[in-house]
Amino acid sequence: MKRIGMLTSGGDCQALNAAMRGVVKCLVNSNEDVEIYGFLDGYKGLIYGNFRMLAGHDFSGILTKGGTILGSSRVPFKTIREPDENGVDKVEAMKQNYYKLRLDCLVILGGNGTHKTANLLREEGLNVITLPKTIDNDLWGTDMTFGFQSAVNIATEAIDCIHTTASSHGRTFIVEVMGHKVGFLTLNAGMAGGADIILIPEIPYDINRVIEAIEKRNQDGSRFTILAVAEGAISKEDAKLSKKEYKEKMKSYKYPSVSYELADEIQKRTGGEVRVTVPGHTQRGGSPCPYDRVFASRLGAEAGELILKGEYGFMVGYKNREIVKVPLADVAGKLKMVSPDSDIVKEAKLLGISFGD
Ligand code: F6P
Repeated sequence: MKRIGMLTSGGDCQALNAAMRGVVKCLVNSNEDVEIYGFLDGYKGLIYGNFRMLAGHDFSGILTKGGTILGSSRVPFKTIREPDENGVDKVEAMKQNYYKLRLDCLVILGGNGTHKTANLLREEGLNVITLPKTIDNDLWGTDMTFGFQSAVNIATEAIDCIHTTASSHGRTFIVEVMGHKVGFLTLNAGMAGGADIILIPEIPYDINRVIEAIEKRNQDGSRFTILAVAEGAISKEDAKLSKKEYKEKMKSYKYPSVSYELADEIQKRTGGEVRVTVPGHTQRGGSPCPYDRVFASRLGAEAGELILKGEYGFMVGYKNREIVKVPLADVAGKLKMVSPDSDIVKEAKLLGISFGD
């Protein structure tokens, strides 16, 4: 008998359900008896003992369903050791619920913050297996996270749609792409959508270079310019500031997002019309794309196999085209970022895409 606790934590993404289904299918197809405890709304469910007992059939028909059947929430790692407003010790409460239900292991699906807490629970003696979810693709130890490809598709579609209207009106358009502090999503959607300028946090931009790239297109007879701008894009000037100084400076900005600030500046300096489009959370919504369905199912199945073998303390990831198990201790607290020296950046530049650097 295996008693498995499962939870999805942090910002949702496509294929969370596909991944959980993969784990459960693998387990129910084995000879082992399994009990599945689905904790609701991420770590909150584990802290406060909110769970649903789930059977194999609860995971039927969810392969194509976006979101998460368990619900999700963010419980910040930086306050995980602090008691909640009612004095509940969150880490102790999670341990107690784990032991009370006599769980063999926890399957935790999440991104960076989630992995820090998962590793903490491992250090506290719980058996943990994790699966890498996030549209940002910023998890260390895996070349790919599920949700990423689906989000690339949606952001690309947004850029595609903007192309036609930008060209009709001869406008400069900024499409602001999610990705938190990294640029994988913007880089891939920008290239797929044929963006002329791509601004990502890993390559701070110089506004003069951005203006030059737009003006060059105008001189070459292009009627429009598309910029794919990561929500975390930063200017060279701002990148030199300390975190605190940058936060302070942001307060003086007219808009909460870098895209609108940029749009103002571009409009002022080029005299052309500039518009901003923010696809926002649509990038995390809807059905997973076929790639993510297959990828998340594979990761889930491999996680199920590790559970059957009683191998815990790993994230199931993907490296050099192979599914791998990565020690949780190696994953937690590290951010994977786009390398400015990577082949894809070099190739984008060869294609004439400006990074504003
Ligand atoms: O980590 C996924 C993500 O969608 C980021 O790309 C984005 O910065 C953030 O979550 C948005 O968070 P929230 O859903 O809490 O607004």
